[in-house]
Amino acid sequence: MIDLVEATKKYDDGPPALAGVTLSVAAGECLAVLGHSGSGKSTLLNLIAGLDRPSSGTVTVDGTRVDQLGEAGSARFRRASVGMVFQFFNLLDDLTVLDNVLVPAQLAGMGKAEARRRATELLGALGIDRHGKAYPQRLSGGERQRVAVARALMNRPALLLADEPTGALDSRSATDVRQLLLDLNAEGQTILLVTHDVELAASTAHRTIELVDGAVVRDIDNSGRSGAAHGAAPLRAPFDAAGSSFDGADAAGTPGARR
Ligand SMILES: Nc1ncnc2c1ncn2[C@@H]1O[C@H](COP(=O)(O)OP(=O)(O)OP(=O)(O)O)[C@@H](O)[C@H]1O
Ligand SMILES: [Mg+2]
Repeated sequence: MIDLVEATKKYDDGPPALAGVTLSVAAGECLAVLGHSGSGKSTLLNLIAGLDRPSSGTVTVDGTRVDQLGEAGSARFRRASVGMVFQFFNLLDDLTVLDNVLVPAQLAGMGKAEARRRATELLGALGIDRHGKAYPQRLSGGERQRVAVARALMNRPALLLADEPTGALDSRSATDVRQLLLDLNAEGQTILLVTHDVELAASTAHRTIELVDGAVVRDIDNSGRSGAAHGAAPLRAPFDAAGSSFDGADAAGTPGARR
């Protein structure tokens, strides 16, 4: 799903933000990226999402050479293949919860009825359907992050990128979001999770890499991850009541053929 070869990102002066990272992430995997502030985590995420280009090296995601895309191509790639969740939710305050979740579908040109059906389903699965008509500011942090996750999943992305998704949450909401990521991954969703939180990484991801000064210094297998054993209440409904699933076997095609 993700293949980086010797990806380097240099800004004007100073040492590179990312220094020759070679990394492969398989479809269905949950990879955590750990590292201190300034170690290059967000830079890595931005290269994978096509929000930024490497100074050298290659970035291939879901079969697309992301480093070779222009601006329009990169926006199209993100709409089709990537969902993103951030520390501070990045919801639009002037739109209701439901309308926030609908934005990616509108950008992708999904039919209105289908989009509403999918958004309602996702809000239900995430346990926030009763807030559909509310504005984000009225919601708790954990609820807002659920809205952000629903929005990220709207277009059935091959890849979910999460940058410190629990960083702004209290421990209970953080547990809920962690369980949500585990459930999504169990359904086949490929996830890349950036975090400072060693415990979150170990309990959620199959594998953890650690960045220091833009280089991968560790690559640890967490196959004994413990998260499923002590999580929050399970999701109320399957993510994909409509029949297509996170494993990429839906009408949009396999991950490699989705574009
Ligand atoms: N647009 C930019 N221009 C110049 N330097 C940048 C830019 N973006 C990031 N950097 C530098 O690149 C390095 C890596 O930054 P990055 O944001 O990837 O770190 P991070 O690991 O995500 O940190 P944090 O945990 O604080 O979010 C830092 O030294 C940062 O100052
Ligand atoms: Mg960052």
